[in-house]
Amino acid sequence: MIKITNLNKTYRSKTGDVYAAKNVTLSINDGEIYGIIGYSGAGKSTLVRCINLLEVPDSGTIEVNGQTLFDSSVGDDGKIKASVVKGKKLSEARRGIGMIFQHFNLLDRSTVFDNVAYPLKYCGIKKEEISSRVTELLDLVGLSDKKDAYPSQLSGGQKQRVAIARALANRPSVLLSDEATSALDPDATESILSLLKELNHKLGLTIVLITHEMSIIKTITDRVAVMEDGEVVEQGDTYDVFSKPRADITKKFVNSASALSKLDELLENDEFLRNAKKNRRLIRLTFDKNSVGDAVISELSRKFSVNVSIVLANVDILQAGTLGNLVSVIDGREDDIEAALDHLCKCSVGVEVI
Ligand SMILES: Nc1ncnc2c1ncn2[C@@H]1O[C@H](COP(=O)(O)OP(=O)(O)O)[C@@H](O)[C@H]1O
Ligand SMILES: [Mg+2]
Repeated sequence: MIKITNLNKTYRSKTGDVYAAKNVTLSINDGEIYGIIGYSGAGKSTLVRCINLLEVPDSGTIEVNGQTLFDSSVGDDGKIKASVVKGKKLSEARRGIGMIFQHFNLLDRSTVFDNVAYPLKYCGIKKEEISSRVTELLDLVGLSDKKDAYPSQLSGGQKQRVAIARALANRPSVLLSDEATSALDPDATESILSLLKELNHKLGLTIVLITHEMSIIKTITDRVAVMEDGEVVEQGDTYDVFSKPRADITKKFVNSASALSKLDELLENDEFLRNAKKNRRLIRLTFDKNSVGDAVISELSRKFSVNVSIVLANVDILQAGTLGNLVSVIDGREDDIEAALDHLCKCSVGVEVI
């Protein structure tokens, strides 16, 4: 388990202080894929680099697998006193936490084999043992045939596979992934995400995945935290955050991965839709896993003599289930419309009149 409590990190610069992490509290369970999403500059990298102490926080606590890596308290003089794990204990803790990056950070002059062997070379492991471990790791990431290649001879996706193999060399329980697919094309992104998912299942690896793309959060994460200006503004099960986003920035992220993002544009250009009139409403319906397969719309027309026409529709397939969104126009007598909307609510369909 990774437990971060009241974490603060400030960068001092000539142009002023940057509060990159503000009072961040979150916990990540063993074996889960935990997403951290935010725009550039939100503080995601800072937060994740605090987990392995590549950045040392100003205050707060960091606990990884039961070991306290950083802890602070306020002394009698009112000043913050911090205790940080150092030396051998820090190296040991870091061996338990692998990390991958957007630009792979491979050694260009070394072969794939040597890149993966690199973290094993300074642990007093015998040559034959290193060789068999590297072979095993390359097999795990599907690159057995590339062991003698150099990074320049590999595609982006293959380079990231090498980086993943290297990050796993010391059998860490945690993998930190900082925008690991941001430099890859959609196909390579998909294959790296399925590899991460496979490693999560096979090895029980805990993965902390940073991204600015909601589609990635949607595909792979169990839980998610949304960051803005150094703060975690929302966190929870990915499905819950997706189906009932609260913070404005979360709504923006959710819409960015949905056909419903076209709604504003549509409203701007379509007077008929924009002017909700008597006997007509523009509604947004949310079907969660309890209602998604039901024939609610046709039932509505039959029961309440209203007409429902679909304007926009989107279905998301998340780890925890399917989520449907529908923007429709509902026509009919006022009392029929009210009764129909009431009925939808009873069928556990989320209803919002736009
Ligand atoms: N070493 C540094 N020195 C000064 N400011 C920094 C440093 N690293 C990051 N920052 C600033 O901290 C904020 C958070 O950065 P970062 O954690 O990299 O965000 P993200 O990964 O979400 O893009 C940004 O405003 C960034 O400019
Ligand atoms: Mg970053």
